[in-house]
Amino acid sequence: LHKKEENFMHWRNTHQRYGLTSIALHRVMAILVIGLFALGKYMITLDYYHSLYLALPEWHRGLGVLTALLLAARLLWRWSNPLPDLSGRSWEKPLARLVHRLFYVLLLAIVVSGYLISTADGHALQVFGWFDIPALISGANLEDRAGAVHYFLTWLLAFMLALHVAGALKHQFIDKDAIFTRMLGFAPGQRN
Ligand code: HEM
Ligand code: HEM
Repeated sequence: LHKKEENFMHWRNTHQRYGLTSIALHRVMAILVIGLFALGKYMITLDYYHSLYLALPEWHRGLGVLTALLLAARLLWRWSNPLPDLSGRSWEKPLARLVHRLFYVLLLAIVVSGYLISTADGHALQVFGWFDIPALISGANLEDRAGAVHYFLTWLLAFMLALHVAGALKHQFIDKDAIFTRMLGFAPGQRN
C-alpha cells in the first residue's frame, strides 16, 4: 500500500487492522466503563450527609447514558466495517471473539438494568439536566431486582475485563505480535 492511500483509509477498519474510529471508540469507552465501575462502587458507600451523596449517582447515570449512546454508535460502526482477523492459537481466537461479543451484550444489559434501577419509582432519568428519559416500567421490587442484576453483571464485566487485558498483554509481551498496538497504539498496526 502507498503511504498516501494508507492515510486516507485509516478511519475505517480493514481485515488486517482497526481504523482510527474503532480505536477512538474503544479508548473512550474503556475509560468510561472503568470509571463507571469505580464510581459505582464508591458512590454506594457514601452516607446521606456526604456532600456528594446526590451528585455522584447523578454523574453515574449521566455518564451511563453517554456510554449507551457510544455503544449504539460502536455497534453500527462494527456492523458496517470489516472485522480484523485475530491471531493466536486455535482456542484463543474463539475465546477472544466470545469475550468481545459478550462485552457488547453485557454493556447493553448493564445499561438497561441501570435505567430500570433509576426509573422504577416512576421518575424520569435526568441526563446532566440536558434531557430526560421517561420512566416506562415500574413495579414492586423492580428497583431491587434491577439493582441485583446491575450488581452481578458489573462484576461479570470486571472479570471479563481482567481476562481481556491479560490476553492483550500476552499478545504484547509474550507473542510479540501486533494485536495490542493495532487497538491501542498511536500508529495503528505498527508491527504489521
Ligand atoms: C444508563 C446507564 C446506567 C445507569 C442509569 C446506572 C445506574 C446505577 C444506579 C442507580 C446505581 C446504584 C445502585 C444502588 O444504589 O444500589 C448503580 C450502581 C452501579 N453501577 Fe451503574 N448505571 C449505569 C451504567 C453502568 C455502567 C456502564 C457500569 C460499568 C461497569 C456501571 C457500574 C455500576 C457499579 C459497579 C455500581 C455499584 C453496584 C453495587 O456495588 O451495588 N453502571 N448504577
Ligand atoms: C485498559 C484496558 C484494555 C485493553 C488493554 C484492551 C485491549 C484490547 C485490544 C488489544 C483489542 C484488540 C483485539 C483485536 O485485535 O482483535 C481490544 C478489542 C476490544 N476491546 Fe478492549 N481493551 C481494554 C479495555 C476494554 C474495555 C473496558 C472494554 C469494554 C467493556 C473493551 C472492549 C473491547 C471489545 C468489544 C473489543 C473488540 C472490538 C471489535 O472487534 O468489535 N476493552 N481490546
